[in-house]
Amino acid sequence: MKQYNVGIIGATGMVGQRFSLLLDKHPWFNVVCVAASPRSAGKKLKDAVAGKWKLKDPLPEAIGELTVLDATADIEKIAGMVDFVFCAVDMKKDEIKALEERYAKAECPVVSNNSAHRHTDDVPMVIPEINPEHIEIIEAQRKRLGTKRGFIAVKSNCSLQSYVPALAPLHSKYKVTKALACTYQAISGAGKTFESWPEILDNVIPYIGGEEEKSEKEPMKIWGHIEGDKIVDAVEPNITAQCLRVPVSDGHTAAVFVSFENKPSKEEILEEWKNFSGVPQELDLPSAPKQFLNYFTEDDRPQAKLDRELEGGMAISIGRLREDTQYDYKFVCLSHNTLRGAAGGAVLLAELLAAKGYFD
Ligand SMILES: NC(=O)c1ccc[n+]([C@@H]2O[C@H](COP(=O)([O-])OP(=O)(O)OC[C@H]3O[C@@H](n4cnc5c(N)ncnc54)[C@H](OP(=O)(O)O)[C@@H]3O)[C@@H](O)[C@H]2O)c1
Repeated sequence: MKQYNVGIIGATGMVGQRFSLLLDKHPWFNVVCVAASPRSAGKKLKDAVAGKWKLKDPLPEAIGELTVLDATADIEKIAGMVDFVFCAVDMKKDEIKALEERYAKAECPVVSNNSAHRHTDDVPMVIPEINPEHIEIIEAQRKRLGTKRGFIAVKSNCSLQSYVPALAPLHSKYKVTKALACTYQAISGAGKTFESWPEILDNVIPYIGGEEEKSEKEPMKIWGHIEGDKIVDAVEPNITAQCLRVPVSDGHTAAVFVSFENKPSKEEILEEWKNFSGVPQELDLPSAPKQFLNYFTEDDRPQAKLDRELEGGMAISIGRLREDTQYDYKFVCLSHNTLRGAAGGAVLLAELLAAKGYFD
């Protein structure tokens, strides 16, 4: 496989730190540049993250030696160094929109973790196992931007990365009419650790700004279809969500209730989950889990602490499937929010784009 030079925009942040670990020794992608705000620019990455490194594993040595560039002032320079960039920055939404478009227009493709472009009509928002065909909209986006190579592709919010995969094969075959999801979200999703957020210990916070809207609306784009030069959102299934912050370091859990147009048996649901695999598995992409959806028969699984790292944090864990009195079924599911839900999901999307020739 061809090798690609990549940059990490927002390399000093929580998601950026995950990118450094995931891309160190990646078989296709080599990190040649890192960028962040003017506060970090000019320092070696290892010095810029000193005192704010949030992960268990240390910063890879070679990446730590790179000098941090200014994500805005150095766009042309970065575009000249890399084949594409990963982007995860904490800026205002309109600033991120403009920043990502400037990279794309500098002929530097952007694989983004940010929410700014998730509802731009011709920007694909992809979970690679579920809607890989949406990357075909990139040609229309390039026409609008006037670029030959440059484009933006995004991944969806971390909150829905357990229940949308679990519902996807069931929706294809039995048509989900409505679903209710209550999420129990880890503190790393807010860029926090127990050290930086001691108030979360012995506590549950019943509000995560903007999260419920994202959890209800983004699945509609993922289940949408390409029509001309845009992705048209699906109108079903109807999803309602409540999102809570809980004292867990990593791993978002969701309690899900679901009804179908054609109600399957429990055995049929378990069979769909067992047999589901997508383009990443067919193409054997480096970050693709071998078994995407994993059902646990034990009553007390999945658990965030025990199961979030399954297949490098890229697999989805499901359990407790049973009939419900008001919906057809209920179950519980779990995904790692900074791996499958953030940096890992973006790396898998980039692998799909590379395999399909979008960075050539
Ligand atoms: N944490 C998650 O689980 C998660 C999941 C999915 C998506 N996301 C999204 O990913 C993005 C980053 O999240 P995070 O948790 O990694 O945030 P974070 O830890 O606060 O890191 C933010 C990054 O943005 C950089 N930055 C801030 N202001 C900037 C500016 N004016 N110009 C250039 N760079 C700037 C920071 O650089 P300095 O260090 O120099 O300030 C840092 O590298 C957000 O859009 C977030 O919504 C996060």
